[in-house]
Amino acid sequence: MADIQQHLASSHKIEFEDLDWALARRVGLTPREAAMLQYFADIESQTVFYMLEVAKLEVARDPELLTFLTMWNYEEYFHSHAISRLLAECGVEVPPPMSRATNLRARARVRARLEDLAQQTLARTMPRAFVALWMTWGAAQELLTTQAYEEIARTTANPVLTELFRRIAKQERRHFAYYYTSARERLEGFAAGQRLVRFIFETNFNPVGSGLKSPEEQARFLSNIFPRHRLFEAFGEVDDKLEALPGLRGMRVATAYAQRIQPMLSPDARWSPALTAGPGGQAAFSSSRA
Ligand SMILES: [Fe+2]
Ligand SMILES: [Fe+2]
Repeated sequence: MADIQQHLASSHKIEFEDLDWALARRVGLTPREAAMLQYFADIESQTVFYMLEVAKLEVARDPELLTFLTMWNYEEYFHSHAISRLLAECGVEVPPPMSRATNLRARARVRARLEDLAQQTLARTMPRAFVALWMTWGAAQELLTTQAYEEIARTTANPVLTELFRRIAKQERRHFAYYYTSARERLEGFAAGQRLVRFIFETNFNPVGSGLKSPEEQARFLSNIFPRHRLFEAFGEVDDKLEALPGLRGMRVATAYAQRIQPMLSPDARWSPALTAGPGGQAAFSSSRA
């Protein structure tokens, strides 16, 4: 079993009060970083609504799941707070995290309601497969999030942003580990669950935050974090992990997404994996390496 006790023991609110805010102010953020951080804060602020949705589901009444969700929601809640604090320290005007969250939610409501409905139906009619799907979905999203935080921590010139994002990424990686282990356990020897997961991923896979922004905004945001070939490396890593789960061999939905968004990017931001792939690795779209 995914070791919930271990997760409980290491769960904590992200430390950020101790960061060197004077240094953060002195170095500041680039306009690109300021925009990215606001997007991160937006996405993080939505976790609580997701929590409200899943809490309604009968399948969430499992004691271990409830324990994980409570801890997870608590940790995510402070990610948005910590990012908002850094933005404010660096002179970027931001709304308080929770008013940001409710405003965004109001805009995303129709889509969220549809997803909620689909989720409830699935959870009622196929509870076991639904939980397997939920875990696999969570694993994919947490791994993407982890990599996004790590990427910015690595590339920014602001050491305080590096430190904060390293701390957040550590928690995201722990979330990933939980979801991933649970997904493996729940998919093992469960053909109907494997089929459902594959079907939903192949027809619906989108990175976290897709419901909040237009597809073009989401595409630009991702290629800002992961420029050109990095997008394919990061999304490829998600596929590598997903493919290693029972019944999911050959599923490359994250890479397919990275390819799909290329036409939405400005020509100099595009990348074709065919340029690095060996013979036969021709991509189905045209793009320029620039
Ligand atoms: Fe987070
Ligand atoms: Fe997370």
